[in-house]
Amino acid sequence: MDTLALHTPLLGRYLSALEAQMQAITAVPCDAVRDLYGYLHYHMGWANEQLQPSRVTTGKRIRPLLCLLACTACGGDWERALPAAAAVELLHNFTLIHDDIEDNDTTRRGRPTVWALWGMPQALNAGDALHTLAHLAMLRLREQGVPPDTVVEALGVLDRTCLRLTEGQFMDLSFEEQENVGPETYLDMVERKTAALVATACELGALIAGAPPAQRGQLRAFGHHLGLAFQIRDDVLGVWGDPQVTGKPAVSDILRRKKTLPILHGLRRSEPLRALLARPDLSPADVSRVVELLESTGSRSWAQDQAREHTDRAIEALDQASLDRPAATALRELTLGLLGRDH
Ligand code: IPE
Ligand code: IPE
Ligand code: MG
Ligand code: MG
Repeated sequence: MDTLALHTPLLGRYLSALEAQMQAITAVPCDAVRDLYGYLHYHMGWANEQLQPSRVTTGKRIRPLLCLLACTACGGDWERALPAAAAVELLHNFTLIHDDIEDNDTTRRGRPTVWALWGMPQALNAGDALHTLAHLAMLRLREQGVPPDTVVEALGVLDRTCLRLTEGQFMDLSFEEQENVGPETYLDMVERKTAALVATACELGALIAGAPPAQRGQLRAFGHHLGLAFQIRDDVLGVWGDPQVTGKPAVSDILRRKKTLPILHGLRRSEPLRALLARPDLSPADVSRVVELLESTGSRSWAQDQAREHTDRAIEALDQASLDRPAATALRELTLGLLGRDH
């Protein structure tokens, strides 16, 4: 995230070391599979559609920044945590390649998705490769002098998170077909599909810093609430975001009947909305009407309030964790900035 990532020289340094680490991990091993790695480099924002090196828009790199900041805030050396930060970001990007197939989305970060360019079968392979590379990235903790027991523990945390994430994606897709999804069920799904990885990013930073269990738990709680707030904000942007800024297709969540938080809120309050979303096909006029109805039920501000509440809870957990400055301050600013993010 440009405004936040370069907010302090600290974050600028983290980001350049992180990109170098991820590029080393995803280097082309031989000519026969050059294009497979090219798809990964394209998705990561290092190559263009011709698979030539090119600096284009990357993701915000929120999760690895959280990991490195958490490590520093717990008194650790952030460079030791770089392989874990890279692992988390590569895993996130693997899930996005598969998520775009699952959601049938043809645009991400303002560019065609991997499957839209090279077809679903090869996009599945690209995602699988990135998944595996994330694991191999974590093993590089050994080269940083991290004790073997800690490396095994970190891999276990990553694997359990990946499983939860897949469960969350399963639930997200199942809910497309269900009319009645309660708020608790929604939170259960979002905890899995999004908050688990954000919490893991923070926890891994603490783990590598050698933080005591209570502090590690507080960082995990911080990441959990931040992750929930992050997804709720994503849900709001899914209806009201500017596609030129989000880089994602407009109203895709409405067309897919995603049970996002504002939509769930509106469905409970408006019979016309329920009737409209039950139609098999939605015209552009129907979609505009859905957005109007969501406005009239107050669903946008209600959802944003929910995001604010989880942000407050994230900050509370942070305050309880007795962290070192200035990393703790950067974590706080990052968290507050994400609440109003536009992409
Ligand atoms: C997108 O995550 C998927 C969600 C969990 C909402 P990000 O918004 O972090 O995606 P990038 O990596 O910055 O594009
Ligand atoms: C977010 O999925 C979680 C994962 C990708 C695992 P979404 O489908 O809600 O996210 P976007 O809006 O496509 O980035
Ligand atoms: Mg999606
Ligand atoms: Mg999805």
